[in-house]
Amino acid sequence: MKRVIGMSSARRWAAGARTPALSGTRRRLAAKIGIGEIVMSHVTRGREFLHTPGPTNIPDRLLRAMHRPAVDFSGPVFTALARSCFEDLKPIFRCAGPVFIYAASGHGAWEAALANTLSPGDRVIVPETGNFSASWSRMAEALGIVVDYLPGDWRHGIDPAMVEARLAEDGARTVKAVLMVHTDTATGVTSDVPAVRRAIDNARHPALLMVDTIASLGTVDFRMDDWRVDVAVGASQKGLMLPPGLSFTAVGEKAIAAGRESTMPRNYWDWRERLTEAQYIRFCGTAPEHLIYGLREAIDMVMEEGLEAVFARHRRLADAVRRAVGVWGEDGGVAFNALQPAERANSVTTILVPDGFDGERVRTVCRERFGVSLGGGLGRLEGRAFRIGHMGDLNEPMILGALAGVEAGLRVCGVPHRPGGVTAAIELLARTAAPLDPPPVRT
Ligand SMILES: Cc1ncc(COP(=O)(O)O)c(C=O)c1O
Repeated sequence: MKRVIGMSSARRWAAGARTPALSGTRRRLAAKIGIGEIVMSHVTRGREFLHTPGPTNIPDRLLRAMHRPAVDFSGPVFTALARSCFEDLKPIFRCAGPVFIYAASGHGAWEAALANTLSPGDRVIVPETGNFSASWSRMAEALGIVVDYLPGDWRHGIDPAMVEARLAEDGARTVKAVLMVHTDTATGVTSDVPAVRRAIDNARHPALLMVDTIASLGTVDFRMDDWRVDVAVGASQKGLMLPPGLSFTAVGEKAIAAGRESTMPRNYWDWRERLTEAQYIRFCGTAPEHLIYGLREAIDMVMEEGLEAVFARHRRLADAVRRAVGVWGEDGGVAFNALQPAERANSVTTILVPDGFDGERVRTVCRERFGVSLGGGLGRLEGRAFRIGHMGDLNEPMILGALAGVEAGLRVCGVPHRPGGVTAAIELLARTAAPLDPPPVRT
């Protein structure tokens, strides 16, 4: 009997698990998801490599920190722990002002940023970066905010000159905020936050600067106060290595002041409510205890490694991915979506497949045959791209394993690419490996 079993029951069924012959429907579905002819074991061994750009790998240590009984969330021990998280998120955002923690996805913190600072009818500028600038602006519109969407091509970062020009035109100062996505996870492009800050300053415009750091926080330098960002939005499931379910707004004084004028109806998101010592009110309800235990552990892990070392690790592993993609694309097959090397994100790489090939199929084959989960193309890149997430709790063999799975997947799918990307990544990692012995200390 043919033992043709994939990971999900749908795939097992489609592949004809426990049945010798595939029905027509099964054959069609199996062909569609690309597992028709392959005989797979019904047992999977080893870990699937998670390279979606969120959620990311959750370290065992962090899982263990959450594996505990529920406690009285108003008791002194948990209260002190939660308070320490509110405080210790500040060095991660590099801010002195408050950080609010929501039991919500990143969308929740997006809404909190808007609902606390703006009023229905206010105007904002959103430079288009990709799928996530589009979603944030749709949310703003749903709240009655008027969005001035500055077009972008999804392959470059934000053009600060465009922001400056648009603000300079706004003599009546009707624009209340600029909303930018630092790293757009769909495109793999990181925009320059200080450059956008300078654009606002050059136009001598009082608009708030709100930055979505969901896919950048803990992977690349972000300096809320130095860069005079008024609101920074973050989430748990990316650089911070936590499960999805927590999101954050880090807030500066100017944003808090804008909130006093805001007429947007709000309750759960309301910063004013949450600026209290009362635990139940701080979280606007029962504290998400287990995620907070996890958060405490995540912050400890980041601090133990050191923020600069965390960024350096991300940069080096991202460089390895970029080396591989560079080699794969040398003959004009697959290509980087991000056209400017300096704008390629340290957290995710978006790879375009040539016309006539299906990025979604590459993704399916990598996951189902090689145990590597990738991100798919989003929005206008749907089917035209796949994405390798490389943020969070990652090391060299994980990156090399993922790259090997992708190279194998490209081969299976017949997507044009030059082989040897993995070798190039190995060479880069070997060349940049830290020496085994600490260098002598000079006195
Ligand atoms: C840059 C960016 N912003 C916002 C979001 C939305 O976050 P969530 O899915 O947690 O609501 C995501 C999710 O991937 C993201 O990558």
